[in-house]
Amino acid sequence: TDPALIRNFCIIAHIDHGKSTLADRMLQLSGIVEDRQMRAQYLDRMDIERERGITIKSQAVRLPFTALDDTTYVLNLIDTPGHVDFSYEVSRSLAACEGAILLVDAAQGIEAQTLANLYMALENDLAIIPVLNKIDLPAAQPEKYAEELAGIIGCEPSDVLKVSAKTGEGVEELLNELVRQVPAPVGEADAPARAMIFDSVYDTYRGVVTYVRVVDGALSTRERIEMMSTGATHEMLEVGVISPEPTKVSGLGVGEVGYIITGVKDVRQSKVGDTITSAAKGATEMLPGYQDAKPMVFSGLYPIEGTDYPVLRDALEKLQLNDAALTFEPETSAALGFGFRCGFLGLLHLEITRARLEREFDLALISTAPNVVYQVIMEDGTEHTVTNPSEFPEGKIDQVFEPVVKATLLSPSDYVGAIMELCQGRRGTLLGMDYLSEDRVEMRYTLPLAEIVFDFFDQLKSRTKGYASLDYDTSGEQASDLVKVDILLQGEAVDAFSAIVHRDHAYTYGTEMTKKLRELIPRQQYEVPVQAAIGSRVIARENIRAIRKDVLSKCYGGDISRKRKLLEKQKEGKKRMKMVGRVEVPQEAFISALSTG
Ligand code: GTP
Repeated sequence: TDPALIRNFCIIAHIDHGKSTLADRMLQLSGIVEDRQMRAQYLDRMDIERERGITIKSQAVRLPFTALDDTTYVLNLIDTPGHVDFSYEVSRSLAACEGAILLVDAAQGIEAQTLANLYMALENDLAIIPVLNKIDLPAAQPEKYAEELAGIIGCEPSDVLKVSAKTGEGVEELLNELVRQVPAPVGEADAPARAMIFDSVYDTYRGVVTYVRVVDGALSTRERIEMMSTGATHEMLEVGVISPEPTKVSGLGVGEVGYIITGVKDVRQSKVGDTITSAAKGATEMLPGYQDAKPMVFSGLYPIEGTDYPVLRDALEKLQLNDAALTFEPETSAALGFGFRCGFLGLLHLEITRARLEREFDLALISTAPNVVYQVIMEDGTEHTVTNPSEFPEGKIDQVFEPVVKATLLSPSDYVGAIMELCQGRRGTLLGMDYLSEDRVEMRYTLPLAEIVFDFFDQLKSRTKGYASLDYDTSGEQASDLVKVDILLQGEAVDAFSAIVHRDHAYTYGTEMTKKLRELIPRQQYEVPVQAAIGSRVIARENIRAIRKDVLSKCYGGDISRKRKLLEKQKEGKKRMKMVGRVEVPQEAFISALSTG
């Protein structure tokens, strides 16, 4: 295809604002899906996906469109993941486009995540087409939100298009505007091939399906290709486009978007952001912006049944085939047994992974409190990377660095005070604040990632009755006064409860944890002190009082078989106990203490 006739674009929208419905209407208008085959959310639920029960999402779909000038253009709609932890992947999808439709529900207005993605699109110099959707709804306020959008992107309210993805009203006009406003791709047709990977999906039958946008040159079948980040070469088994089913083509030229299949089995061999070139006469320079997926949040995952350990390992290996950002290595905990230290992009990534392990692999898991990665610099100049509180070094520490994020919060103005209080309590620094309209405010903060990782989102929702939205992106590191707090049972540290916290929060963490454990751990034969300590300095203490628990005393002599039964029962109960030093702790106590903390 002549690059002048290509338009590559994405849709930036909040969940439920109508992205899938709009994509359906576009498919219909393009004529590649006949009306009678049309079903809701065509792209989300392709046949292949329904048959196999797996997810082959159409990461990019090619739509022919005849515009008002009677020319037929090729529109490539590129999907962006709508998920706060995957901002790097979003940035690569945006980098594959020249334009973006900013789609906003006319009854809701813009949300923080949409705003964050819009900023990213602006940084990538994309042409932005502001669109209000759902104008058929009685509750729609198109005038109000057109003004809001115009204020944010600096256009006139009259430039904001108004559509109903449901009825189709305004959608054809939108595509004509897209052809008019979004620039055609430019690249050097005669240069060595350079294509950017913007998504990579594992398929049980075909191996990894890699979605690419060609920048220079061309990729064709029967050519060996090279992944420029690693130098690894692969045979090209298939090149194709999705329109709307996968269709083989002989090659992809400048500006074109499609998929390739090389037979690699693991998405880490075909990484988002990497540049593909030809193995024979390759390009010398990678396309800009490549980053290795780097886990930001770590947590220990342990099977509740110790015998499930091999199942958990196999399950993690399976998930990793389709998730380049997931890392794991074996770990043992005195309290929890054998498990894995897992690395995630963020908290949602952790929650999704955990939910998948439980649902798809039928595992019952305990996860330790998530923590971020710390850089600890000792007075003697040595440096430690700490991904687990138990690795926090002893001795003379000079400085501890922690990751920070830039957060965007959007809220009705009534809750500004509540949000400021929350962010200040979490060591946040206000960067700026703008009124998007009379009653809606955008606030920008830097916050330590560790402070967001716990219950920040829940707190935000409860303090704003669910109205505030949040998005964040990592933004370097800062030195902070951080300490490790250990929780000790009878003088013995319980590894699963150690935490790295700011010195100002150490006391609160210590008293909360010791109180909780006093309540959760049953009385023992002797008194057990529960302490919180920084190094050797105890900062909080509770006592579990002693009881004399003599099962046999309940049997008034005589019946020996009954005695045996009781002893057996007690033994069974003990199997569920973990020993911490001399203290017996029911596994339940660990689970409850970790699930609420
Ligand atoms: P996710 O797939 O969850 O990310 O959501 P989405 O943004 O793709 O939204 P989707 O297209 O699934 O639409 C969300 C809901 O809004 C669905 O119930 C749609 O039927 C409805 N909807 C979408 N567009 C319109 C519209 O123009 N008018 C009305 N009344 N409803 C709409």
